[in-house]
Amino acid sequence: MRRPVAQFYSGVDTEEELTDTAYENAKKLLNLGCSVKTGVDATRLADSIGKRQFRTIIFQFPNVASRDPRYGQNPNHVLVTRFLKNARNHLKPDGLVVISTVDSPFYEGAFKMDEAARKAGFAAPAIYTFDPTDYPGYTHQNTANEESAADGHTAFATFVFSS
Ligand SMILES: C[S@@+](CC[C@H](N)C(=O)[O-])C[C@H]1O[C@@H](n2cnc3c(N)ncnc32)[C@H](O)[C@@H]1O
Repeated sequence: MRRPVAQFYSGVDTEEELTDTAYENAKKLLNLGCSVKTGVDATRLADSIGKRQFRTIIFQFPNVASRDPRYGQNPNHVLVTRFLKNARNHLKPDGLVVISTVDSPFYEGAFKMDEAARKAGFAAPAIYTFDPTDYPGYTHQNTANEESAADGHTAFATFVFSS
């Protein structure tokens, strides 16, 4: 059996709900030999990938597009905490979980990455500058529409979580 060079799991959108850009990207990835899966809930990974384990699991710019508190917490903190707890079960030994976000006090206050890491059993994450211009053609997308989630922001960070 040919092993895919990488697996790409899109967010909760089903194939029919993919934006044109996402659909075109998925086609390009398939042509490169990647495996692509839609309708993946990052807080319930086993539903989509069973017991599979990976060296690196990445969620670029997680966002629930809501500010309504959940369990008294910012919903984006709840999302990343649940994602980290879930991803932990799918990591190979010494595996990494990688999350990029806008780098601003507002976003750090929303995600509270150190606290999310602690709750999920990870060490405090290493933080790197994420510069979209390092990746020609890269854009990232708003949760609610096809516009870029980077608009109006100039600083981005990548958080790398390891046990
Ligand atoms: C700001 S957009 C970023 C989209 C894309 N990752 C990018 O970098 O362009 C936030 C994404 O998080 C996804 N999302 C929110 N909750 C999710 C969950 N529980 N599981 C999977 N994806 C989720 C949304 O559907 C949306 O696509």
